[in-house]
This record gives sequence, structure tokens and C-alpha cells, in this order.
Amino acid sequence: MILDGKKRSEIRLERLAQDIARSDLHPRLATVIVGDDPASRMYVRMKHRACERVNIGSIGVDLPGDARTGEICREVHRLNDDPGIHGILVQLPLPSHVNTPEVIRSVIPEKDVDGFHPLNLGRLFSGNPFFAPCTPLGIMNLLSDYGVETEGLHAVVVGRSIEVGRPMAALLLNSDATVTICHSRTRNLKEETSRADILVAAVGKARFIGPEMVREGAVVVDVGTNVVDGVLCGDVDFDRVRDIAAAITPVPGGVGPMTIATLMENTALSAQRATCPGVE
Ligand code: GUN
Repeated sequence: MILDGKKRSEIRLERLAQDIARSDLHPRLATVIVGDDPASRMYVRMKHRACERVNIGSIGVDLPGDARTGEICREVHRLNDDPGIHGILVQLPLPSHVNTPEVIRSVIPEKDVDGFHPLNLGRLFSGNPFFAPCTPLGIMNLLSDYGVETEGLHAVVVGRSIEVGRPMAALLLNSDATVTICHSRTRNLKEETSRADILVAAVGKARFIGPEMVREGAVVVDVGTNVVDGVLCGDVDFDRVRDIAAAITPVPGGVGPMTIATLMENTALSAQRATCPGVE
């Protein structure tokens, strides 16, 4: 079975657009981009386009590649203080001279729709999430849309980033999976991945997960976005793994569209919380 993130995200966006249109909410997202990395610019453009589709307003703050940490934080503070903005997204990665953790901490947790603020990550890990990061939450939504029940299953996450690996593990644990986190220093990686009922690959290496690393009947989720010879490909060797997996996400058309749909859902949720305090 192909876990069709494109199709599921379209359905979710359609539903969200209707919910917002029928409500009194006027959600607004602000994006902050520093420098002119083409991939980052493309991702931010896609986020603004998704906002338009679902009746979420959006503004973009565009800073030059040599902007200092303090300058970026000042822009974020201005957005923090603007009651018409419900979500703030600072596109990562930031240029190497920027103190990224400081910028992430400058976004108030109430508008941190990316879920990267340490307070939001802490709440997620304590089992009481406020905002969860969009890629792993989008994966949970995709699994749920296809009726994959995680309770009691052994989930193996390959990758330990703040954006994907760590929050993915927390979400799976919160939904009663038994979780193993693997990374570049893991010994006998193949032994670990072969035990997975659910395998999440967030490695950043093209076609790194081959069929010998996957248990027959596993659910395989590919977070990779690698460009090889101008073609987008995942961390999983899709053509060879698809035959042994029970279900698998394609790249493109798997996790990526779910990430954007989840960002829209988080932004709408933030607007709802701002308008009706007490909404969880
Ligand atoms: N860069 C790559 N993925 C992401 C994401 O989910 N959020 C932000 N802000 N930057 C990213």
C-alpha cells in the first residue's frame, strides 16, 4: 500500500479551508526567511500558497543573508507583539553565523507553530503537547488516516534531529509505541531497523535504507528530501523496499505535503486558542 500524503493532505486542506470559512477566525501566519537559499525560498513559497488555499492570511519577512542574530530576533519580537499574527515560522537552516537556538527561543511558545521552542518540545516529551513539529505530526496524521494503529508496535526512528527524529520518537511514544531512536553512531543499524514494525527514515542520505534493513510487512515512512542528478529522492530505496513493506510513503508525494497541511492546521489551532482562550 502506498501512503499517499499528497491525496491525504489535499483532503485535510479542503476540510480546513471550509472550517475556517465557516468560522469567525482570521488566522495569519508570518514566515521569516534569512538569505537566498533556493530550496528554503521554494519551501516558504509553498507555505504561503497553502495559506491562500485555506483562507489563512500570510506575511513574509525577508532578511538579507548577513542579518545578525539580534536583528532576526527583533523582527520575531515585533511579530510576537502583533495580535493579528497567530503563527511565526522561521525557515531553517539559518546562515551559519546565526545563533539558531537563540532565534528559535525568541518565538513566543503560543505562536510557535513549528513546535521547535524548547518549551514546546518539553511539553511534547512530557506527554502534554502544545504545538508539535509539523513533519512528525503530519506523519502521525498520515498513519492515522490510513488506520495504522501504533499501540504496542515497535517503531524505529533513524535520525535524532530537533525537527524530525526526536519529536517523532516522542509522538510515537505518546501514542503507545515502543520506540528506538537510531543515529549515525548506532552500532548494527541493520539489526535495529530490521526489528521495526514502523520504520521512520530521517537520515538525509539518498536511498540509504535498502530492503535488507526492512522487516517484511513493516510500515516504512520516508522523510528524506535528497536531490540526486536533479531528481528528488528519499532516504529509502523505494523501488526495492516497496515489495517487502506493507505500506510505504513515496518521495515526492508522501511526507512533504503532510508537513505543509499540518502547518496550516497548527496555525488555525493557534488562532482558535487566541480567540477562545481555554481551547486545548
Ligand atoms: N526547514 C526544513 N524543514 C523545516 C520546518 O519544518 N520548519 C522550518 N521552520 N524550517 C524547516
